[in-house]
Amino acid sequence: MSKRFVVLLIAAALMVGLVPTASAQEGDVWCGTDEPVSITWIAGTVGNEYETAVALAEKYMAEACPNVTVKVVERPTSTTETIAQYQQFFEGQSSEIDVYQLDVFYPAMFKEHLVDISEYATDEFLALFFPAVLDAYTIEGRVVGLPWFAGGGMLFYRSDLLEKYGLAVPQTWDELAAAAKTIQDGERAEGNAAFWGFVFQGKAYEGLTCDALEWQVSYGGGRILSPEGVIEVNDPASIEIFDKIASWVGDIVPPDVLNYQEEDSRAVWQAGNAAFMRNWAYAYPLGQAEDSPIRDKFGVGPLPGKEAGMSAATLGGWGVGVSRYSQNVEAASAFAIWVTSYDQLVDFHLARGEQPVQPALYQDAQLLEALPYLASMGNVLESAIARPGVAGVQYNAVSELYYTAVNNVLAGSVDAETAMADLELAMADLGFELP
Ligand code: GLC
Repeated sequence: MSKRFVVLLIAAALMVGLVPTASAQEGDVWCGTDEPVSITWIAGTVGNEYETAVALAEKYMAEACPNVTVKVVERPTSTTETIAQYQQFFEGQSSEIDVYQLDVFYPAMFKEHLVDISEYATDEFLALFFPAVLDAYTIEGRVVGLPWFAGGGMLFYRSDLLEKYGLAVPQTWDELAAAAKTIQDGERAEGNAAFWGFVFQGKAYEGLTCDALEWQVSYGGGRILSPEGVIEVNDPASIEIFDKIASWVGDIVPPDVLNYQEEDSRAVWQAGNAAFMRNWAYAYPLGQAEDSPIRDKFGVGPLPGKEAGMSAATLGGWGVGVSRYSQNVEAASAFAIWVTSYDQLVDFHLARGEQPVQPALYQDAQLLEALPYLASMGNVLESAIARPGVAGVQYNAVSELYYTAVNNVLAGSVDAETAMADLELAMADLGFELP
């Protein structure tokens, strides 16, 4: 074979993705095994999360480790329901799932069921992540998950409509309410009866805990629990903002918001039927898709506060961890390491938006072009508010009490003052300290 022919062959193979590129570590991908094995990854499924996971699994099988078959099964859309499903697998010590997608607040809950992946990942590899986000997956010195992506609540606004009505991007919650009302009245008068001012996640589930924590903190209220475990829900600022947002339901916020998860809010928003939306950055590339009615008609920025500059974003995001009950711990760990490596994260973020967990990705030209919020909003990990880690294994119980109380306030079945006083007592019963 002539030299020229070989070069052409390699170039062709590179184009169809048969040969790993130099940046994929010169082809030295560790697969954890040379035998043919099959592993199962539970992942997805908010927006195109599941599809993105499947595309990565296919790339792994085609390019990185052809001897490993990766099957992707869908988790429930709600992170709250996902906990219940994982609990069943873990309690039964099931080997059915090898790799778990882990919400950033799961590690404390599931630590004993997950492998310490630092036994397989090199220190060099672990050093690529923001230390703060790796910390979230490190419990008692064991790295029980590798960060996959991060997120912080953000405000999506219709820039075309703000311009049409001569309005600025709202900096305060009162400005948001006023702008939402003006736009909603105007759009309805023009015949769009389905138009609403503001949508968010109001269902009684973890998503509401994230939204409500942002409301409290951005209003100068508490953070559910202080780092010392003191209850922080029953203060005048928190009560004021909860009542204020409840008063919007049925006016500028659809009454159905009481049942909205992320995708329900996005459905209204992306159909062009909302002026403002609170959501995670996964909604950005979907809104910018070719066939999206709101393509190039919206912007994103920090959520409003009580006053300009008091914005708060709850820290969200997910990682991947390996089950101790897996029959292929090494192959599963190898896959978790590959999927959280730089090149795969670039592919992931291009398809999926969200916010990166490795500092280097914030300098990636391709990502900066596709996801302009990365440059304009900076690194969410520096400013985001974590959900109270001090709750440890009791986090889910605390969150359930909290989102149920806030959902009742939104529903108008109780005022915030009464709901927060009751919530405080219920949290004290779980063993947390009264202020
Ligand atoms: C997103 C976040 C996750 C959060 C969930 C709440 O998936 O990444 O951290 O718990 O939303 O619905």
